[in-house]
Amino acid sequence: MFHLECIDCGERYDPRKVIYTCSRCGGLLSVKYDFSRLPSRLDNEWKRHPLSVWRYKELLPVERTELRVTLGEGGTSLNRCLRLSEEVGLKNLYVKNEGENPTGSFKDRGMTVGVTKAVELGMEKVACASTGNTSASLAAYAARAGIECIVLIPSGKVAFGKLIQAMIHGARVIQIRGNFDEALKIVRSICLSYPIYLLNSLNPFRLEGQKTIAFEIRDQLNGEVPDKIVVPVGNAGNISAIWKGFTELHELGLIDSLPQMIGIQAEGAAPIANSLKRNLDHVEFVNNPETIATAIRIGSPVNWKKAVRAVKQSHGMVEKVSDAEILEAQRLLAQKEGIFVEPASAASVAGLIKIKERGLIDKDEVVVCILTGHGLKDPNIIMKQFPKPVEVEASEEAVMNALMPKKSIIEAPARM
Ligand code: F0G
Repeated sequence: MFHLECIDCGERYDPRKVIYTCSRCGGLLSVKYDFSRLPSRLDNEWKRHPLSVWRYKELLPVERTELRVTLGEGGTSLNRCLRLSEEVGLKNLYVKNEGENPTGSFKDRGMTVGVTKAVELGMEKVACASTGNTSASLAAYAARAGIECIVLIPSGKVAFGKLIQAMIHGARVIQIRGNFDEALKIVRSICLSYPIYLLNSLNPFRLEGQKTIAFEIRDQLNGEVPDKIVVPVGNAGNISAIWKGFTELHELGLIDSLPQMIGIQAEGAAPIANSLKRNLDHVEFVNNPETIATAIRIGSPVNWKKAVRAVKQSHGMVEKVSDAEILEAQRLLAQKEGIFVEPASAASVAGLIKIKERGLIDKDEVVVCILTGHGLKDPNIIMKQFPKPVEVEASEEAVMNALMPKKSIIEAPARM
């Protein structure tokens, strides 16, 4: 029903083999399905199940679905944002809130499939390098499966909430004195030498779970395809996965157009945005990536080739935003729409604002921003920006006094 294929040389591989890149040319691998063997009324089949990753099991690379390792991932809400739309100057702006996933990020979509795959392949240990969310998610799914989890993280650069998730789920957490790119290099090498299954987005099965973001958007918009999908980009797996999801729907005749893929990177970690702007045919890596959006603090995105193809094929673009723009977008989402996201997720909205200001988007276009992770994962960033709430005596009078004067909490700078 499916096989692995190199995106560069086309070499095919048995999906029961533990392999992450093409052994002939080193290229990235992608999962290909035999569409002729899918049920003819796929859509009707899907409608019988609730919105979730596993609703789309016919297009997931799992043979033994009874083994599935699940925590109820996917089925996240797609919110129409009227107040934010007004602020940005758009009429049809939606956000898909991936923070609603079991561990608070879109990574759970990939991990439910990736860890199921590990179990199916008989692997008893899984590992990843992470800026935080991947490790939190892998640790939870490994615990659920009863297998061992090893995570490598850049020391001091992982948001507190994510670190404690990996710890409580029992992962063996190793902090390296280096960045994410270095951690990934090490873990890749370890997984090639030992019977440990790599679950970074280099793993093509994991990305299959993430492509369900596209399937859900189509179903939530009743078959309508957005004009633009805006996604924060780090290791560049998610933008590639979402694009793959839309192209599969298109090939199956389930949608009649494709969206433009818009990737957003942080200014200090923008190898793809910078390289595309310079019209390079490859991506020049950034040696010392830096941004407050630690989730996307990545200088050598392993999936750059898939991402660049997604952007070029969809006539999209990759933009970069400053840390200040990211924090402003985070505050806007929280205060205009009631949605609290972590800084990396807010990058999508910050990027959208920038693109709108440059006149690269029409006000009538249907736009979906992917909000990749929950704000509670990174509380420190909030504590650094906002003054401590006022403290008064425990009396109604004191509370009213604090509310009424000019410098009350009602009129504190945080209000918009
Ligand atoms: N947003 C959040 C909240 C993330 O955690 C990540 C990646 C991204 C966006 C970017 O996705 O890498 O597929 O382009 N986080 C990884 C991690 C790297 O280790 O948690 P991408």
